[in-house]
Amino acid sequence: MKKSKKNGGSNKLRVRQSDLGNAKTPNVNKEVLYDTARSVNGMTRGASQVAFVPIGHISLDPWNKDAERLGIDLPSEGVFWIKSFFILQSLQGGGIGRAAMDAVEDMAAREPLWAQTLMLDTVTKAHQTREDFALSTYGSIPKVRRYTRRTFQLFIKPAISSQITNEAWYSRRGYEPVITVPNYYDVWDGNGNRWDIEIVFMRKDIQ
Ligand SMILES: CC(C)(COP(=O)(O)OP(=O)(O)OC[C@H]1O[C@@H](n2cnc3c(N)ncnc32)[C@H](O)[C@@H]1OP(=O)(O)O)[C@@H](O)C(=O)NCCC(=O)NCCS
Repeated sequence: MKKSKKNGGSNKLRVRQSDLGNAKTPNVNKEVLYDTARSVNGMTRGASQVAFVPIGHISLDPWNKDAERLGIDLPSEGVFWIKSFFILQSLQGGGIGRAAMDAVEDMAAREPLWAQTLMLDTVTKAHQTREDFALSTYGSIPKVRRYTRRTFQLFIKPAISSQITNEAWYSRRGYEPVITVPNYYDVWDGNGNRWDIEIVFMRKDIQ
């Protein structure tokens, strides 16, 4: 999901097709960014200004102003939020998301951050697979990533499939649901309809 610059609302979101797992996405804009980072991992550096095309984004933030109103019971220090996470749809399913999560969790746990608790939020499993929303927004039901395990036998090769949603994936990585919040983001589809999408906040204690 992308924060809209319109309306100035901090929680105003416009849903893109890539927000629902492997929903069909038209051409993704290959936006060019420039290296303007003045510090990496707490160490100051000279920004190279080199141009690059991002393949995704993930951030680790020491605060989440929008979530404060929820009054989630969290330690007063050592809490970091994983935010704004996506991988270009054309590259999804190739392990980059897992590598990004591994890297960000590793970075959080080390000097200088010494994070103790990681937080994130995502669409609930039930709402990521909601057909009415998908139909209204995209005109079709998105394919949710499926994990297929094959058991090799002499003559038959049955496949066991289960749906992979963001919530399920984060659970596998050790994140536990803390609170489910309806209408947390102001979500609008392309037809101008507002949707009450449920968001689950998840927590992982790492030290
Ligand atoms: C969620 C997202 C960031 C994951 O990135 P990704 O590069 O597609 O992720 P990976 O390829 O590393 O796969 C993540 C997990 O899903 C599984 N998976 C992904 N595609 C799969 C497929 N086709 N079949 C089976 N398993 C699959 C992987 O096995 C992996 O699980 P594991 O770490 O337990 O092995 C990416 O799909 C995305 O940008 N989605 C849209 C935006 C979004 O939902 N962002 C998250 C907001 S909270």
